[in-house]
Amino acid sequence: MRILVTGGAGYIGSTATSMLLEKGYDVTVLDDCSTGHADSVDPRAKFIQGSLLDIQTIRSALSDCQAVMHFGAKSLVGESVEKPQLYREVNVGGTKNLLAEMSAAGITKLVFSSTAATYGQPKSSPISEDAEALPTNPYGQTKLEVDHMITEAAKSGLAAISLRYFNVAGAFKSQSGWLAERHNPETHLIPNVLRATSLDPLKVFGTDWPTPDGTCIRDYVHVVDLIEAHIIALQKVAPGNHRIINLGSGVGYSVAQVIAAAAKVVTHEIPYENSPRRAGDPAVLVADISRAKTELNWAPTRSLEQMVSDTWESQNARA
Ligand code: UFG
Repeated sequence: MRILVTGGAGYIGSTATSMLLEKGYDVTVLDDCSTGHADSVDPRAKFIQGSLLDIQTIRSALSDCQAVMHFGAKSLVGESVEKPQLYREVNVGGTKNLLAEMSAAGITKLVFSSTAATYGQPKSSPISEDAEALPTNPYGQTKLEVDHMITEAAKSGLAAISLRYFNVAGAFKSQSGWLAERHNPETHLIPNVLRATSLDPLKVFGTDWPTPDGTCIRDYVHVVDLIEAHIIALQKVAPGNHRIINLGSGVGYSVAQVIAAAAKVVTHEIPYENSPRRAGDPAVLVADISRAKTELNWAPTRSLEQMVSDTWESQNARA
């Protein structure tokens, strides 16, 4: 079975590509490399460098495919506030093109990379899929619109699952080396914690949040656990049905707890300084993962320490 992986040169998509290949699937990658890296694409995959805004490119990428894992998107919350039009064009417009071409080619299986950012500021915690979706930024808004588009497409027979990620972390050691976050600039907590130095300490965004230690709480899930859920989802999609399923660990860690876990892994203190709150951050985001457990028969198995140590090993391998 050949799977089209859009965004297969990015952090999560490249991990999916290698894990699918290791499980015996054939993979075609479509990525414009606007943020991804061509050298992250597993050499065993067929790689098409091109855009979801180009119908012909999508058409040729879909050839011989029986299913799609759709990761290709703009995915930075801050950038989405500055460039909402770009996010609309790529995330909504690109997916519209993809769904139309899948339909024309008779490809009916889809696993979509959605996000907890669709929920916005949660009224209660942990967040279940039935929580009201009120995104607070264009990134979350465009991903929510795509979820709605997929629900519509399922009415005409599409078999789809949207997976709403919480905080994805860690790295995957593929046959050709480590696949890890390589964002520029890097905004995510764990890689930044591990890069902190006494000259350039980690900035802790807010210590006056309504949480036990005053720092924000997030739900971290290892990228390998996350992709295992995608591969199960691919086998569970049902024609005419669109399910939305949260992926997280179901457990929250504060920024201070992440710093402490990292200090244990690297065996020295992490240099940090307290900074003002970052605009748009909610205090607490933790997933209710009971639907993933019952419908996918999935639960994450890799700890926060594992996420930190895999990120650390991957950074050292690249240094
Ligand atoms: N943080 C710091 N210092 C840093 C980086 C982050 O204190 O240098 C804090 C943030 O304020 C936040 C926490 O660490 O409280 C996690 O921040 P990240 O930037 O790592 O992740 P976010 O929770 O902001 O966002 C992630 C994804 C989004 C997704 C969201 C959904 O990056 O794409 O989870 O939960 F929408």
